Amino acid sequence: MPGTETPGSSDGSLKITDTRTGRNYEVPIANESIRAMDLRQIKVHDDDFGLMTYDPAFMNTALTKSRITYIDGDRGILLYRGYPIEQLAAKCTYLEVAFLTLYGELPIKDELEKWTAQIRLHTYVHENVKHLIESFRYDAHPMGIFVSILAALSTFYPEAKHVMDPDVRQKQIWRLIGKVPTIAAFAYRHSLGMPYVYPDNDLTYTENFLSMMYRVAEPKYKPNPVLTEALEVLYILHVDHEQNCSTSAMRSIGSSLSDPYCSASGAAAALYGPLHGGANEQVLRMLDEIGTKDRVPGFIKDVKEGKGRLMGFGHRVYKNYDPRAKIIKEMAYKVFDVTGKDPKLEIALELERIALQDEYFVKRKLYPNVDFYSGLIYKAMKFPVEMFPVLFAIPRMTGWLAQWQEMLTDSEQKIARPRQLYLGPQRRDLAR
Ligand code: CMC
Repeated sequence: MPGTETPGSSDGSLKITDTRTGRNYEVPIANESIRAMDLRQIKVHDDDFGLMTYDPAFMNTALTKSRITYIDGDRGILLYRGYPIEQLAAKCTYLEVAFLTLYGELPIKDELEKWTAQIRLHTYVHENVKHLIESFRYDAHPMGIFVSILAALSTFYPEAKHVMDPDVRQKQIWRLIGKVPTIAAFAYRHSLGMPYVYPDNDLTYTENFLSMMYRVAEPKYKPNPVLTEALEVLYILHVDHEQNCSTSAMRSIGSSLSDPYCSASGAAAALYGPLHGGANEQVLRMLDEIGTKDRVPGFIKDVKEGKGRLMGFGHRVYKNYDPRAKIIKEMAYKVFDVTGKDPKLEIALELERIALQDEYFVKRKLYPNVDFYSGLIYKAMKFPVEMFPVLFAIPRMTGWLAQWQEMLTDSEQKIARPRQLYLGPQRRDLAR
């Protein structure tokens, strides 16, 4: 349970008998875990390497202690720094939640003003970044552009490599959170061949993003407040999700003391995959493929026969309704009041209805995840499907940076270097 842990304290011990040798061992239990390194003493011969754990895909291995995000997957609970996601989504702005995630407490008025001013100060990108984006093909996937430009930023800010300097780290945090909407919007405008719209720093974080995406000739772009609110909520829901694939990539790359631009580029690359942040794009493609509500049962049958997955369903940690999906589903109706209902909603609702009562999904505890309804909102807001993973990456940058900073300041962390069980050929000599 959150708030009850006493890091390092012993909660008891585990007694182990090695049946190979008959020897007994006792290893301490702390925070409901044992340290894998405590198993290394278990050997058959003195010169053995010692016992390891085998855990493909990290199904049961904690790679860190963390104080940022708590998930109870069985009960469908998500807390950032102790606050329930439902309260944050209802009462805070994205920039407030970003501050909370990074620094542990919600900002007081002064702090929020300074934080917002710093983010605004860093929304512009170097003109050469614009030229780099121009050099991509007209149909380049915006996530490919996004991943590349993040890495390229490392060459614009070489001082960022001093990752153990807190002031240097702080500056890159402002820069990355400030610039990601600009890079994302420029990547989109590039695909349309439209001139890039520079940041308008009179606007809020999300208003400015929508202005850079959609402004044409109007002197001032003012998005519909319902749509801005929906985007704020979606951003808040996507800020952090503890040790997911992209976040652990950020930690792993950052552990070699790479600069944050290269680390974040690697994290964004991990997010791009269809099993992670690319799933929202795949949900829309799946709904397109299904086409009409009456074809849903046939699609579910195919999934059960192993001919594909129900995208936007299932989660490594949640074995209950993803609390983010609940909030997004409610938000979808508000957005549709403004934009008109998307006919694909009917298909999504039917998929959910059938799946939630089908034994295959019930037995495996497969529920809608954050990506199931978010795509429908994004589509209603006129974002093309290729932009969906980028829309996930913009707010997740905050989580990546918070986790990266926590990793660098954790005295227990070292360069990440998993072990393997080698099952290949023994040493042999060439026969020539
Ligand atoms: N549709 C059909 N069957 C599924 C699905 C699905 N979406 N997800 C899991 N299963 C089945 C899977 O075939 C397996 O069945 P069996 O035990 O018979 O082999 C069982 O459920 C357990 O699945 P798993 O692949 O071992 O579970 P995992 O924890 O490794 O995978 C997941 C988690 C999210 C990758 C997976 O549920 C999935 O592929 N979902 C669809 C993609 C998706 O929506 N991803 C977004 C995740 S949420 C946002 C994010 O983290 O980015």
